Amino acid sequence: MTLAEVLNGTVEYLTARGIDTPRVDAELLLAHALELQRIELYTQHDRPVTEAERTRARDLVRRRGEREPLAYVLGDWDFCRLTLKTDKRALVPRPETEVVVERCLVLLDGTSEPRIVDVGTGTGAIALALKHERPDAHVTATDRSADALALAAENARENALEIELVETDLLEGLPGPFDLVVSNPPYVAENELEALEPELAYEPQDALVDRGQTQRLIETARFGWLVLEVHEARAQGIAAELQRAGFADVHVSQDLAGRDRIVEGRWIQ
Ligand SMILES: C[S@@+](CC[C@H](N)C(=O)[O-])C[C@H]1O[C@@H](n2cnc3c(N)ncnc32)[C@H](O)[C@@H]1O
Repeated sequence: MTLAEVLNGTVEYLTARGIDTPRVDAELLLAHALELQRIELYTQHDRPVTEAERTRARDLVRRRGEREPLAYVLGDWDFCRLTLKTDKRALVPRPETEVVVERCLVLLDGTSEPRIVDVGTGTGAIALALKHERPDAHVTATDRSADALALAAENARENALEIELVETDLLEGLPGPFDLVVSNPPYVAENELEALEPELAYEPQDALVDRGQTQRLIETARFGWLVLEVHEARAQGIAAELQRAGFADVHVSQDLAGRDRIVEGRWIQ
C-alpha cells in the first residue's frame, strides 16, 4: 500500500470511531509512527509503506480509535512554546490553559523576580510555561498526585527549566509569600462526567472531578493575584465569590472560543 492509501484508510477508520478531527489525528499518528514530517505524508504520497511501518502505525491508530487521548498516544504535546511529555499520570494540557498563562504574564508585567505558585500542576504545564517566559521568576508547583509530580519533574528536566515541586494539598505548608497563585483545579461535576467525551475516561479522575478545590483556594489563597481556570458556566459566580471574600480587581476573561474561563482577583488585605 502507498502512504496516501494508508492515510486515507486511517482517516476513514478514525471517522467511523467518532473522532472529531480524523484527518489531523491520522496525519499526526502516521507521521509519528513513520518518523516523518506531516508534510512528507503528502510529498511522499506514492511511496510504499513497509509491513514493519504498518504494524507500528496500526498500534497507535487502534489506541486512538479506542478514544485514548491523542496526546497520550503520541507521548508528547505542545503547550505554549514547550513540548511536554504526556501520559496517563496527568491531564493533557488544554489550549484554554494557554490563555491562563498569558493572563498571568500580563498580571506579572512590572514585577521583577516574581514568586509564583501553580496549584495542581499536572504535567507542569502552567508552571513550566511561566518559568520559560519569565526566567527571573521563582516558580513552585504543587500537586497531590505523586505520579503527576514525577511527570512534571521529567518535563522540567527535558525543557531545562528549574521549578520547585511540592507534594501537598493545594497550598498547605507553603510559607509564601507569592505574587501570584495560579490554578487550573478540577472543575467537572461528577454527574457531568459520563456525558463528556470518552477520552476523559483515560485521564486521572482526580484531575477532573471538582471536590471543592476552587472554593478552598478562594478561602485560603491570601497572597497577591489569584488566577483560576474555571468551568464556563461558573465563572461569573466564582467572580462574585472572590469579591465577597475580599479580593479586589476581580475580572473574568475568555478563552479562545470566547467562553468565560479565567477569573482573577488581587488579595489586598
Ligand atoms: C485540571 S488538572 C490541571 C493540570 C495542569 N495544571 C493543567 O492545567 O494542565 C488538576 C490537577 O490538580 C491536582 N489536584 C487535585 N486536587 C488537588 C489538591 N487538593 N491539591 C493539589 N493538587 C490537586 C490533580 O492531581 C491534577 O493534576
